[in-house]
Amino acid sequence: MKTNKNFNNLVPNYLFAEIAKRVNTYCKENPDKNVIRLGIGDVTLPLPQIAVDALKKGADDLGKKETFKGYPDYEGYEFVRQAVSDYYKSFGVEVGIDEIMITDGAKSDSGNIGDIFSKDNVVLVTDPVYPVYVDSNIMAGREIIYAASNADNDFLAMPDDSVKADIIYLCSPNNPTGAAYSYDQLKKWVDYANKNDAVIIFDAAYEAFITDDSPRSIFAVEGARQCAIELCSLSKTAGFTGTRCGYTVIPKELERDGENIYKLWYRREATKFNGVSWPVQCAAAAVLSPQGQKQFKENIAYYQENARIIAQALDELGIYYTGGKNSPYLWLKCPDNMGSWEFFDLLLTKANVVGTPGEGFGNNGAGYFRLTSFGDRENTIEAVRRIKELLKK
Ligand code: MLT
Repeated sequence: MKTNKNFNNLVPNYLFAEIAKRVNTYCKENPDKNVIRLGIGDVTLPLPQIAVDALKKGADDLGKKETFKGYPDYEGYEFVRQAVSDYYKSFGVEVGIDEIMITDGAKSDSGNIGDIFSKDNVVLVTDPVYPVYVDSNIMAGREIIYAASNADNDFLAMPDDSVKADIIYLCSPNNPTGAAYSYDQLKKWVDYANKNDAVIIFDAAYEAFITDDSPRSIFAVEGARQCAIELCSLSKTAGFTGTRCGYTVIPKELERDGENIYKLWYRREATKFNGVSWPVQCAAAAVLSPQGQKQFKENIAYYQENARIIAQALDELGIYYTGGKNSPYLWLKCPDNMGSWEFFDLLLTKANVVGTPGEGFGNNGAGYFRLTSFGDRENTIEAVRRIKELLKK
């Protein structure tokens, strides 16, 4: 037998697993230190009460013969897809319930969606980039090209007409840089994709953090229905990082190479995925209801205030950064031209604060660093105090 040798082309460890390893080693060696984790973008507030109630009721349903549920519909229950469609409508985007598939999250979807495309496609990602887009395509053996996001373009890479890509991954608001594309910028990507017969895989996992008029969905952009797939998730929106529920939106008219893309994705999901459990789908529909939205928006406001606290400290320290405004992430230039991992070690050992080294997101992340606002308020304030003390000249 033979293993998939493409794995030899990956970096040895998944970024967040590598960070966890290093932090755990440090904590073991320094058990007296109170280490504050602002590294992985994992939420700290509990689920909105409406989701908890729906989970409980859903579990009760499973315990009674009359209400028991087995395998869910492959595309997700209709009332959940309706809730997603209504949610889109609340910010002015029309998507049909027959264009939505309920999944277990945007990470899995961004890794799995490649199944429906040939290995021969050229994949374009912006750099820095969420590692899953790159690693899953390396595993599949696809060629990957990079569009540079850097301080010159405010970490918002734009298409280059001299480059031919087939599959384009965009994430806005961006992980890791927190920068969000404007309508006009996204329109340029949509036009590029339509001109090049390409497909955009648009990761909208952070849309709920948008505070200005940046599009919350690629489908707010004219022409996107002809070229885009949207992945979204309740992980960051409603604290579902452990509960797991997301959704993909594929317009019915999206076709490439003579095939209907929704049909391919449906076929893939029906073959390899048995859907999201009944209690979790009930919780998803509950948080997307108007009452649920009110509750999760309170949580988002809390994280946004954390982001403001971190941003204020960076302003005071005179450190360049992006994000924080439309995003839970703040992407900062390491002080004194330090390398990303060098700054990671300094913060860990001298301030006992964990962040994410920008280099882990690609070459253009070298010399940058990501902090998240998903911590709790007390820890965020304390982390900021320590960072300021460490870096004040
Ligand atoms: C991150 O920290 O980048 C995210 O939490 C990772 C993820 O969503 O998988």
